[in-house]
Amino acid sequence: MLQEWLGPKAAALETRGLTRQLHARAADDNLIDLAGNDYLGLTRDSRVIEAAAEAVCRWGTGSTASRLVTGTTALHEELENELAAYAGQESALVFSSGYLANLGVVTALAGPGTLLISDEHIHASLVDACRMSRSRVETVPHNDVDAVAKLLAERNEPHAVVMTESVFSVLSDEAPLADLAAIAAQYNALLLVDEAHGLGVTGNGHGSVHAAGLAGLDHVAVTMTLSKAMASQGGVVLGPSVLRNHLINRSRPFIYDTGLNPAASAAALAALRVLQAEPHRPAAIHAATTRLAEAFNVPRPAGPIVSIPMPGPHETVQAATHCRTNGLRVGSFRPPSVPDNISRLRLTANAALTPTDLTQAIAILHATLT
Ligand SMILES: Cc1ncc(COP(=O)(O)O)c(C=O)c1O
Repeated sequence: MLQEWLGPKAAALETRGLTRQLHARAADDNLIDLAGNDYLGLTRDSRVIEAAAEAVCRWGTGSTASRLVTGTTALHEELENELAAYAGQESALVFSSGYLANLGVVTALAGPGTLLISDEHIHASLVDACRMSRSRVETVPHNDVDAVAKLLAERNEPHAVVMTESVFSVLSDEAPLADLAAIAAQYNALLLVDEAHGLGVTGNGHGSVHAAGLAGLDHVAVTMTLSKAMASQGGVVLGPSVLRNHLINRSRPFIYDTGLNPAASAAALAALRVLQAEPHRPAAIHAATTRLAEAFNVPRPAGPIVSIPMPGPHETVQAATHCRTNGLRVGSFRPPSVPDNISRLRLTANAALTPTDLTQAIAILHATLT
């Protein structure tokens, strides 16, 4: 039955070069990594590993229930307090993933009385939040502040949320945060900024909202993942305490989900502390990004991701496979994961790459692309 149903769909994807495959990696495969999101190079840092191991010994392997039952530990509270302080926000609430943090905050604010305005390059988790929202959803052209202003000015809904990423996940360009915040304030709307690729990277690590002087404003909220620079798993919503209290009471992905496990909470907390003790780490990400951008003649992006446009999906997969066989892991981005239908090799820089790693990676890529 399923073969008849799904077989033709799989064949159609194959013809278009859009089949996705899992590549299990070995713990010690020694490939140079330009595909992962371990931006600060902390997933194998001994301090982070020890914190996670100690948390397992002390608290056990799971958080045992949802946050409102027995799933809130002292680790969650420490993590929330330290993340909020670092990002310059009044409060933080940890979810079990960045995806759920986005679903959780948007759906808790949405409904027929709330207009949702979404940048066209926004991450899939925010797109899905819009789909679940029961709100009117309007998508604006990428970084188009005037289009946002027009929709806010002409709306009938009493409330509105403007959604953007600080650093976009495919093109690695930045949103005009100061302008968006000014427009949101003018029209009594909330600006919601996904800092998945900003935390630990931009604003000397504190993120782009902090760098733009917008942290702590009562009409600005932020989401972050703990799975990239924080070397762990989980997500967080940061903003005014009134928002945090609302989420605890109304956010279904928070209420009906088991709390983030102790190892992940402790690892993220340890990574945040390493970042504060070693504030030079974000600069190392930017140096590696600059080197990669220069090597492939693409404009230096605001964030840690260098995208190399490819002729099509087939060529992208072939190039990524060639790189892997030669000792380099790169990302291959194809529709529907690219906002403009252009397939790309996606190179993510991280603070742990040595100059030799970069020289080798660039040589492998040049050999692949010529
Ligand atoms: C912009 C953005 N938002 C949200 C997420 C989801 O975060 P998580 O992987 O923690 O669910 C990601 C990445 O995976 C992302 O790139």
